[in-house]
Amino acid sequence: MTKNSQSIGIFDSGYGGLTVFKEIKKLLPNYDFIYLGDNARAPYGNRSFETVYEYTLQCVEWFFAQGCPLVILACNTASAKALRSIQQRDLVARYHDKRVLGVIRPTAEIIGDLTNTKTIGILGTKGTTTSMSYPIEIGHFFPDINVVQQACPMWVPFIENGKYHGHEMDEFIRDDLDSLFAQSTDIDTILLACTHYPLIQDKIRQYLPQNIRLITQGEIVAASLVEYLSRQHWLDEKITKSGNTRFYTTGVADDFETHGEVIFGSKVKAEHVNL
Ligand code: DGL
Repeated sequence: MTKNSQSIGIFDSGYGGLTVFKEIKKLLPNYDFIYLGDNARAPYGNRSFETVYEYTLQCVEWFFAQGCPLVILACNTASAKALRSIQQRDLVARYHDKRVLGVIRPTAEIIGDLTNTKTIGILGTKGTTTSMSYPIEIGHFFPDINVVQQACPMWVPFIENGKYHGHEMDEFIRDDLDSLFAQSTDIDTILLACTHYPLIQDKIRQYLPQNIRLITQGEIVAASLVEYLSRQHWLDEKITKSGNTRFYTTGVADDFETHGEVIFGSKVKAEHVNL
């Protein structure tokens, strides 16, 4: 990739954003991308608003320094706690020609069409659920839908540490699903509102009745990005299209390559970056 490439930046606190990136790459195979996982500071889920904003802005500015005109926060926690401030404060003040998008709005725009009982369960990090971003955003598009949330604070730490195959993970999943359904038995659709959770989707499915629909965000966010770029010609024209992808992590590059390949489904060559 040349120094002058202008890639789409894809950001997550760690590995989870790869579940979204994989779907984006399928729809936009010729575009150039840079993925950054802030693995050294993950998980973000239990951190304060101020800290998530500070870390996310630092990563977004790093993408801008690499020449990215557009950054996707492929992380619900960062989308919930940092996106609005970045869009309304930092882009307006200092980066007029840059764009940063999140994963909550594209999901909220369509999720209401997927429920028959008009009751949706949201599983996310503590940061995402306490921010109330989903009930608020879904309420804008589907005012008559009931949104029930459950924080799953142990899931991301287990996934980031590669310990998600064991029985402890199953116990946390069972407990958190019980707590979700204790709030409402009308739920017929559950959103995995954390980009790490598709990695344990099969385990979650095991503990759900067959009639419950389980929704992941990758395809939703990818389709929404394609639609956004088709409307924003000025931005789309800037992005270079040589089909190149670079992966960076604030953590250990070897670990990122090993875990990343399993999630991404193809070869991952990663570089360490200090932030
Ligand atoms: N993938 C992030 C999300 O979607 C995980 C957040 C975390 O680091 O706890 O929320």
